[in-house]
Amino acid sequence: MKELAPSILSADFSKLGEQVRMTEEGGAQLVHFDVMDGHFVPNISYGAVVLKNLAGKTSIPFDVHLMIENADDYIADFVTDSTKYITVHQEACTHLHRTMSHIKELGVKAGVAINPATPVSSLECVLEDADLILVMSVDPGFGGQSFIEKTLEKTAALDKLRDENGYGFKIEMDGGIGPDNLDRVLSAGTDIIVAGSSIFKCEDIRERTELFLNLMRK
Ligand code: DX5
Ligand code: ZN
Repeated sequence: MKELAPSILSADFSKLGEQVRMTEEGGAQLVHFDVMDGHFVPNISYGAVVLKNLAGKTSIPFDVHLMIENADDYIADFVTDSTKYITVHQEACTHLHRTMSHIKELGVKAGVAINPATPVSSLECVLEDADLILVMSVDPGFGGQSFIEKTLEKTAALDKLRDENGYGFKIEMDGGIGPDNLDRVLSAGTDIIVAGSSIFKCEDIRERTELFLNLMRK
């Protein structure tokens, strides 16, 4: 089943718990946390304290996207009872296989993200071990950016590799996704949709979440 992971980066942080609950009531299956360190990406967002504050306030699991350097030093901080995925960037990991093993040893599914300029071939040696491949459809660091159409080719290539080799990873796309391009993102083979501004920058977050899910079920 296709899943929706609203990205809280675009939420109103003064009402974060309430807004996350609205996405849960709307049927979202995950909460997407964009962790940014101001080094790997030109922006600073928030740390593990936000997850710890939200764990227990919602029943939907956490999808943690680490846009940070030295992820190995911080991964354990992001493990809560709600944490289902922790995704690191291929571009930020010197020893990617070791980092993925570290995530799995903590009982969490391991994801690998690639930026728009990073080829799928760079993941060749980890596809068998990955639980999630995150295809960035914007250059990471900010919400509200425009979708990069060419990234759909990468998703389709990953979907083909998965079928040909019987890999078990899920494919997630992240950045610039809204009702107008959702069908193209899904038909390329995406399993999990991340959407931030197109969910949280709306009057009625619950209704918007329901709209997304209805479109995803078509
Ligand atoms: C960007 C983040 C995305 C972003 C998505 O670096 O990884 O998750 O918050 O936000 P929208 O949907 O507004 O592009
Ligand atoms: Zn993200």
